[in-house]
Amino acid sequence: MEKCLLLGNGAREAVIAEAMSEKYEMYAIMPYENPSILEFVKKSNGKYQIGNPFDKELVKKFITENEIQHCIISQDNLLQEGLIDLAKECGLKTFGPTSKAAKIEWSKTYALDVVQKLAPEMIIKNFEITSATELENALANYADENFVIKPEGLTGGKGVKVGGIHFATKAEGQAYAKECLEASGKVIVQDKVKGKEFTVMCITDGKNVVTLPITFDYPYRFDEDKGPGTGGMGCIGFANGLLPFLTGEDVDTCSHLIEKTIAYLNKDSEEFTGILYGGFFKTEEGIKFIEFNARFGDPEAMNVINSFKTPFAEVATDVFNRNLSQERCQFNGKNSFLVYVVSKEYSLKSKVPPVEFTLDKESAQRKGVKIYFANAKKIGENKYVSVSNSRLFAIEKTGDDFEEIKNQVYRVIHEEVDPVLDYRNDIGNMYEH
Ligand code: GLY
Repeated sequence: MEKCLLLGNGAREAVIAEAMSEKYEMYAIMPYENPSILEFVKKSNGKYQIGNPFDKELVKKFITENEIQHCIISQDNLLQEGLIDLAKECGLKTFGPTSKAAKIEWSKTYALDVVQKLAPEMIIKNFEITSATELENALANYADENFVIKPEGLTGGKGVKVGGIHFATKAEGQAYAKECLEASGKVIVQDKVKGKEFTVMCITDGKNVVTLPITFDYPYRFDEDKGPGTGGMGCIGFANGLLPFLTGEDVDTCSHLIEKTIAYLNKDSEEFTGILYGGFFKTEEGIKFIEFNARFGDPEAMNVINSFKTPFAEVATDVFNRNLSQERCQFNGKNSFLVYVVSKEYSLKSKVPPVEFTLDKESAQRKGVKIYFANAKKIGENKYVSVSNSRLFAIEKTGDDFEEIKNQVYRVIHEEVDPVLDYRNDIGNMYEH
């Protein structure tokens, strides 16, 4: 078996480890023992090391000592820090963009500049701000709180604040924009548009691009899309690969932009492979661009990887070998349903004491769902503890009948999830903003 290094330690990486372990010996460097990644590394006869995946000397040594030939990374800050660049320097076949290409995610202003060049009709009116005066001038365009503030750097899906949802008055929005400006020297103020939000993810080997089934993410913390933004509290996907409000033509519009963006990023040298994920709004004026991510979404990766008919490890191999094709990248035509389980304080407080919880994973899985651990480690028989105030584990089910898989996931939640934890009760409903 060939060997593959996986960096990153969320539930997204857990599903990648599961799928890749069907074909590769999996190797991982993780800051803590993610129980799912651990399981799949062991199952594949691979090896893991507890350590800092940002430590380039450590990663290099691990690659050399274990004679690893492939590397897959889908975590934003590892991509920004150039861990794919390092894997390339070590001669590995890679799945994921270099730091230069991942800039399409880690710089919101860069992404807007690129889309402005490639598809100006998809741009929402915005102001790229680098000074207090520019901020004042930009906000003079708004009579009330109907604008959006976007910080410049990576925020794990938690930085964008929308007037009327995350801030109630123009003054509050202004204060947040000032905070972002002071933190990074840049901030974006954008018109608030009305429409339905969706994402399109494409997989690429640098030249060939395949659109993945569309998913619908639930970024807000509480039911009915109330509360602060999060990394995603749940995610659904439908058998036809679309959403009820989307047409194939809508998706093509987004896929074309993604294809053009990949070609643009790779115009001088191969920089971008892996997943390019676009966030969009369907509005009365057409499809509008929100942002790019240079990686699989989390939780979206769990829905999408479970929607492959061609084993994902085979598709990833085609990305490693730069011979990806639509024919060899087929989907199973099933619905997928996922709920993330979190601590009660997730996204409400930045630092909280570790939360201990119980979970009988085998009992849950016997009820037909999959469990993917994220920011939690095992401390005893059916006992776990959070390692940060982030998402703890995801419960996923793929199947032919949407209502059935939804009921199955919620049944497991009601029967198996420790009441010290929290989750959204309304995954599956779709709200308009
Ligand atoms: N679910 C949103 C993200 O991965 O950024």
